[in-house]
Amino acid sequence: MKRVDVAVLGATGAVGQRFVRLLECHPWFRLTEVVASDRRAGEPYADAVRWIDGPLPPDARELPLRRGSDDLDAEVCFSALPGGRAGPLERSLAARGYPVFTNARDLRLEPEVPLVVPEINSGHIALVDRQRGTGRHGFVVANGNCTAIILSLALKPLVDAFGVDRCSVVSFQAVSGAGYPGVPSLDIADNVIPFIEGEEGKVEAEVPKILGRIENDHVAPAGVTVSATCARVPVLEGHTLAVGVRLQGRAPLERVREAFESFSAEPQRLRLPSAPAKPVLFRTEDDRPQPRKDRELGGGMTVTVGRLRPDPLMDYKFIAVGSNTIRGAAGASILNAELAMARGLLDD
Ligand SMILES: NC(=O)c1ccc[n+]([C@@H]2O[C@H](COP(=O)([O-])OP(=O)(O)OC[C@H]3O[C@@H](n4cnc5c(N)ncnc54)[C@H](OP(=O)(O)O)[C@@H]3O)[C@@H](O)[C@H]2O)c1
Repeated sequence: MKRVDVAVLGATGAVGQRFVRLLECHPWFRLTEVVASDRRAGEPYADAVRWIDGPLPPDARELPLRRGSDDLDAEVCFSALPGGRAGPLERSLAARGYPVFTNARDLRLEPEVPLVVPEINSGHIALVDRQRGTGRHGFVVANGNCTAIILSLALKPLVDAFGVDRCSVVSFQAVSGAGYPGVPSLDIADNVIPFIEGEEGKVEAEVPKILGRIENDHVAPAGVTVSATCARVPVLEGHTLAVGVRLQGRAPLERVREAFESFSAEPQRLRLPSAPAKPVLFRTEDDRPQPRKDRELGGGMTVTVGRLRPDPLMDYKFIAVGSNTIRGAAGASILNAELAMARGLLDD
């Protein structure tokens, strides 16, 4: 099978580097172009990037950095551009015919842009027809904020089995979530910062859209109320969420646990290349999940849930852990592109 040529925008950043790693041996996609800010245009990727983790994939080393305004030869774009700058460029790329899979916040809540987590709402991807009109190939598909994705995946088994009325979440978020170079070490070492600009609003708004359903040609948000408190902690990778849920019906703890354990969805049935065998893994140990031990499960695409117990204010509380740069960002976009490909949306 001929692989589809893809470009990564924002390729030198924390998420961009994850894309470059994940695309190295991808069976359907081949990385052919890398884009960063104009100041680096023309430099070979290996010279321009401050590579964070592991060996730099050999095929990416000599790729020259392109400008966002360049015409790209790639057929598909993955965007890890900064919020605020991403939206106009992504819209322009879509108008020029490129399918764009984005991590940025700018277009996530636009009514015609699907906010896709394939295990939850694969049907939302049909919204791209609203963007394409007649004869245009381009569109934008967004994935959620990293915490919103991890939380939505942890809630989905409960939504399906019992309904969820409300949810409170306190997040302990890794420093890689702030990009590279990100938070100064003198601020975060030996510390917890109880504020991440804009984060709580994103989680509270995006989770209902992700869990919502298509009605006519838009997404009707789910009726779940979300309350979020987000903190930055000195962990390199992997967000930890302390979640409380009020269910719509009564359910014994054993059935809640079964709902987590039995959860599977369309990407698993379709055997999409980035779909983990278990999108949600339930652990029974008293002290799990932990980011350092659980963030790489399922190639970084599994959300691990544990410490399930009754809650005197809500119904149940539990801990969820997921990789912010893979399940919460680059891996999420790639899975969305795989879903689009499986549905024929990348065909000429
Ligand atoms: N980090 C996470 O865990 C995470 C999770 C979910 C979503 N996201 C979202 O993903 C996006 C990328 O995040 P990040 O953490 O990777 O940020 P980052 O480390 O700051 O990287 C930003 C990238 O964008 C490039 N860039 C900046 N301005 C540009 C422009 N005008 N045109 C083209 N490229 C430009 C930078 O290139 P230079 O090196 O040349 O400056 C760099 O490659 C953000 O929208 C973020 O909110 C991040």
